[in-house]
Amino acid sequence: MGASLIRSWALKTSAFFDAVAENYDRDLGRSLDEVRSRLDGVIPRGSHVLDLGIGTGRELVVLDELNCIVTGLDSSERMLEQAKERGRAKSLILGDIWAPWAVDDKTHDVVMALHGTLAHPPNGAEYHLEALANECARVLRPDGMVYFEVPTAEAMAASFHEGYPIAITPVSDRTAQCVDTRSGIKLLAVSWSEAAWTRAFEPLFWLSFAASTYELCVIASPREPE
Ligand SMILES: C[S@@+](CC[C@H](N)C(=O)[O-])C[C@H]1O[C@@H](n2cnc3c(N)ncnc32)[C@H](O)[C@@H]1O
Repeated sequence: MGASLIRSWALKTSAFFDAVAENYDRDLGRSLDEVRSRLDGVIPRGSHVLDLGIGTGRELVVLDELNCIVTGLDSSERMLEQAKERGRAKSLILGDIWAPWAVDDKTHDVVMALHGTLAHPPNGAEYHLEALANECARVLRPDGMVYFEVPTAEAMAASFHEGYPIAITPVSDRTAQCVDTRSGIKLLAVSWSEAAWTRAFEPLFWLSFAASTYELCVIASPREPE
């Protein structure tokens, strides 16, 4: 897929999240206690964190408690506006996860992406995971870590929840269509298997997984260069 197709997909993704931004924290965001229970004990205190898909920055409060220094990257200007209002990030970058990041080499201890942020790669194509692994390896320090929360196949099949502002309709075993019921804007979501994550990340990272019904946590640390 060429750069122009990646750009047009990024526009679709940002249109979707721009549309949900105003009500995101109320309707879709996790409680601070839940974010705390996920990050505390996982993200080392004082880390320089690159938060992919930082969104409205709900996790900034918890990362601040952990004395982390946070750079946030997101393709939705409206989500980033809210993260800016929270005022706790060192820097916020308007950019696309699936294209090269405006982040210097070997500057971060943690690259993370929470709450299904990585579920919307251009056309759902698996090979984007390899580019993601390369970017993570580039920006991480040698003793750094990756922490991703991604949806499982069960999450893709969970379909529509009454009263939930995003309607989710399964399309295939591992894909679903998300529709913002207010604006009608649609976005494809995809779930990759542990095998797909392993194919992409194992050449560069030691990998481990923690799975629950609807969520797979991908935790990785860079392999030492040979
Ligand atoms: C489900 S929200 C998660 C927000 C926040 N991290 C949280 O846990 O509440 C996903 C965020 O990822 C961003 N996002 C999705 N795909 C992206 C992409 N290709 N490039 C940059 N940001 C993206 C969206 O704009 C949105 O803000």
